[in-house]
Amino acid sequence: MTYNYDWLDTECATLEQAGLLRHLRTVRSAPTGTINLDGRDVVLLGSNNYLGLSTHPKVIAAAVEATRSFGTGASGSRLISGNSELYTALETNLAEAKETEAALVFSSGYAANTSVIPVLAGEGDVILSDALNHASIIDGCRLSRATKQVYRHCDVEHLSALLSESAAFRRRLIVTDGVFSMDGDIAPLPDICEVAAQHDAMVLVDDAHGFGVLGKDGSGTVAHFGLEGRGIVQMGTLSKAVGALGGYIAGSHALIELLVNRARGFIFTTGLPPATLAAANAALDLMRSAPELRQRLFSHAKRLKTALIDLGYTLLPSETQILPVVLGNPQRATSVAEALLAEGVFAPAIRPPAVPTGTSRLRLTVMATHTEAEMQQAIAGFAAVFPKFR
Ligand SMILES: Cc1ncc(COP(=O)(O)O)c(C=O)c1O
Repeated sequence: MTYNYDWLDTECATLEQAGLLRHLRTVRSAPTGTINLDGRDVVLLGSNNYLGLSTHPKVIAAAVEATRSFGTGASGSRLISGNSELYTALETNLAEAKETEAALVFSSGYAANTSVIPVLAGEGDVILSDALNHASIIDGCRLSRATKQVYRHCDVEHLSALLSESAAFRRRLIVTDGVFSMDGDIAPLPDICEVAAQHDAMVLVDDAHGFGVLGKDGSGTVAHFGLEGRGIVQMGTLSKAVGALGGYIAGSHALIELLVNRARGFIFTTGLPPATLAAANAALDLMRSAPELRQRLFSHAKRLKTALIDLGYTLLPSETQILPVVLGNPQRATSVAEALLAEGVFAPAIRPPAVPTGTSRLRLTVMATHTEAEMQQAIAGFAAVFPKFR
């Protein structure tokens, strides 16, 4: 007799009834402003390749060259045989960009968060976490076995109140997205640093969406606020504005040394492919010297935001390239996304658990490399769809 797996179908049916069943779509092109999605060309408003670097000729050439020289895989974990010189070059470049003593690359941003948090906090410690932090932070907190307290989104008074009652804990760690992934707003880092200093707390910033976009040379949210040198532990990813794959932690030599020895998501996994490391390093060079890409990104974001508000859409007050159009229940968000797709615009619907219940939305992102024609097509698509859903 074989095990009866019918419960899997029941679970999926329950998700479907709630409007929460997800399906994979197939992309048959590079992630440029227009992609081929399930066989149709559509304008892409859902990419994290914010600066368009994943298809830059110099980045592709670096990846090809690295594959020729080093092969396709790392062949081992970094502490055994997988630590190629490409890592050294990339980590040096990252530490320079971040103005920190050192940096350490992980296989993904998810692995970086789920690894660094348990190293910084454990049993007897407390983690203060923003209510809208990314799932990888939430999972990192769970793995740490520290006590977790959630403060209201960007509410520094609430954070301060929780810290005032935290004296009994051994260590305190505040963790926040720099740019919130689903809302596009920026964490109030100067105020967070202020209360952290008052209560002797560490600060960890997840800069997945600020890196490449905010601050001098795109170095991120910490630089945006001029908080370099304040001991903030900076996490980020190479999978978004850098257009490759991998996560990183930037901080002191001591932190990086401890991570190499304790971070389980660093130790117990194979190194990244050489092509990925070389591509990330080449993209990082371009990112640091391309203010015009950031200008275009922000100009596109402003244009799309203004056009959608003029059309009658309700947007959250984002300050960045992430523009959330909140629609309420999951079914409504999916219907609007499908209607837009019929107009040739791919604006993905985001539903719980990625966002809180009742706030299902379209999470729109622009890219610096969107053309004028693509911007016009996107806005025309929203104009055609609005009357059907008002
Ligand atoms: C805020 C935030 N942190 C971490 C991650 C994880 O990064 P990665 O995709 O490189 O695993 C993401 C991406 O989904 C993110 O949006």
